[in-house]
Amino acid sequence: MNRFLIFVCAVAVVLFFSLSMDLRAGSHEKGEELVSQKCSTCHGLSRVQDADKSLEEWDSTVDRMISYGAGISQDEKQAVVEYLAGI
Ligand code: HEC
Repeated sequence: MNRFLIFVCAVAVVLFFSLSMDLRAGSHEKGEELVSQKCSTCHGLSRVQDADKSLEEWDSTVDRMISYGAGISQDEKQAVVEYLAGI
């Protein structure tokens, strides 16, 4: 019985990690897609790629871009900022 429980726990742990990695990969792709769609209209993407910023700096930069007229919702902003801080 104990072995069965350990087995069930092991499966649960593996499932949990693969699921959370899938979710992270999903939001990374979403961020990448949003950046290439929304951040290349006023200036080239090279301006984005050349910048080396922390999460907080990207957060305020993206807020500034939104104030210039970048059409990004709060949900999308989260994915964009996390993606930018990770590259
Ligand atoms: C509505 C037009 C517009 C859109 C859309 C836009 N930007 Fe900008 N961006 C600007 C302007 C204007 C500047 C130059 C003035 C400045 O730096 O505030 C700029 C400058 C920048 C800079 C260089 C300045 C700095 O702070 O390092 C970065 C990086 C940047 N944008 C990133 C982005 C990202 C990321 C996105 C997508 C979320 C984006 N931009 C979308 C207008 C835009």
